[in-house]
Amino acid sequence: MPEFQAPVGTRDVLPPESARWERLVALFADRVGRAGYGLVISPMFEDVGVFERVGESTDVVRKEMYELEDKGGRRLALRPEGTASIVRAWIQHRSTLPFKAWYVAPNFRYERPQAGRYRQHHQLGIEALGTDDPDLDVEVVALASSLYRDIGLSRVRLLLNSLGDGTCRPGYLELLRSYLEEGQEQLCDEHKAGALDNPLRVLDCKRPACVRATADAPRMVDHLCDECAAHFARVQAGLGTLGIGFDIEPRLVRGLDYYTRTTFEFQAPALEAAQNGIGGGGRYDGLAEALGGPPTPGIGFGIGVERLLLACDAESVFPAPEFLVDVFVVDTTGGEVAVRVTHALREAGVRSDRSFGDRSMKSQFKVADRSGADLAVVVGPDERARGVAKVQSLRGGGEEEVELEHLAAHVKRRLRP
Ligand code: HAM
Repeated sequence: MPEFQAPVGTRDVLPPESARWERLVALFADRVGRAGYGLVISPMFEDVGVFERVGESTDVVRKEMYELEDKGGRRLALRPEGTASIVRAWIQHRSTLPFKAWYVAPNFRYERPQAGRYRQHHQLGIEALGTDDPDLDVEVVALASSLYRDIGLSRVRLLLNSLGDGTCRPGYLELLRSYLEEGQEQLCDEHKAGALDNPLRVLDCKRPACVRATADAPRMVDHLCDECAAHFARVQAGLGTLGIGFDIEPRLVRGLDYYTRTTFEFQAPALEAAQNGIGGGGRYDGLAEALGGPPTPGIGFGIGVERLLLACDAESVFPAPEFLVDVFVVDTTGGEVAVRVTHALREAGVRSDRSFGDRSMKSQFKVADRSGADLAVVVGPDERARGVAKVQSLRGGGEEEVELEHLAAHVKRRLRP
């Protein structure tokens, strides 16, 4: 075992697996770019207050955050999630509204590592600030939904809920509190004590005791004020118009404190229930104000890259490309031709590689076979003297002699007839 290994709960992503990440990010950037979202890169750490402000009662902030003090005595936290950072950045720079941002970024949570649950995970996300129009909720949900379709996932469930707002939620929380108070003894050990401080967390609890005890608990969706009810109805109608199926899940409260109104989660039933959330998000109309900015509504989502790829494995879609190059250059004249030919092929857009060091033809062909390339370009002393190369299929098939100046065009034709 090597002396140093990646820290517990983190993973190295190496080729060819990493090529899936490249493709995924490119697909996502293209899809959300078409909808007017621009890339935002924010620091991996923030003043700890940025996150404390948005999740005081959540595990993500209370129990799992990586906190540190730098040499200047500043209290910092590694980002446990992306939304608070993006809103902080918007408040700082006050870009024009609507502000539409996308990101791909690592997040850090001190969780118990298991398949699909890591201490460093990555999210692809968007955040849109500046309007509480329910059509934006539809746009945001539709963009996530389209990405799942783009990569070929077909068994994704969308759960939808509304958490109300400052008008209707306080009354609902009182109702829920009284309900929980009556059945407090039936709750799980963790929530027997703390249930009344943050009753929504009990709805989020997956332990059988809490699930049983809250089966008939009052539901937020039944106690929305008129504005929230109208907003929620419009979101559902919009999703219907786009043909996006969903289930209303009144227990869906999500693990962060900032949510208001629309919340949603995408689940992959092919994964274990505890880690089957492959993306989620919602509205956070009070977040900008909570972070010291002007009242500015917003909505977004985060998709967990690692979990998304696990879901792809479970459905056998979006495989890692087996091989990285199409052409392998074999040069038995000392390598000088390979330098020129490989460079010219790459300049012409052909994915090509070669071996290094003075190797025999046999050993170069071994590497060529392992590379997965379709074609070998072979140059020996005789070919070099005549300014030609042999182009040979590595998967059975013929061999042709081609003048070096026409090589790139010839290879391109053979790769994509
Ligand atoms: P979240 O639900 O905490 O929301 O995380 C979003 C997604 O990140 C999850 O659905 C899951 O796929 C993935 N994820 C979370 N924790 C882990 C972990 N420990 N290991 C692997 N994957 C994980 C947020 O973070 C919000 N910022 C989303 C959002 C954006 N809401 C509004 N805008």
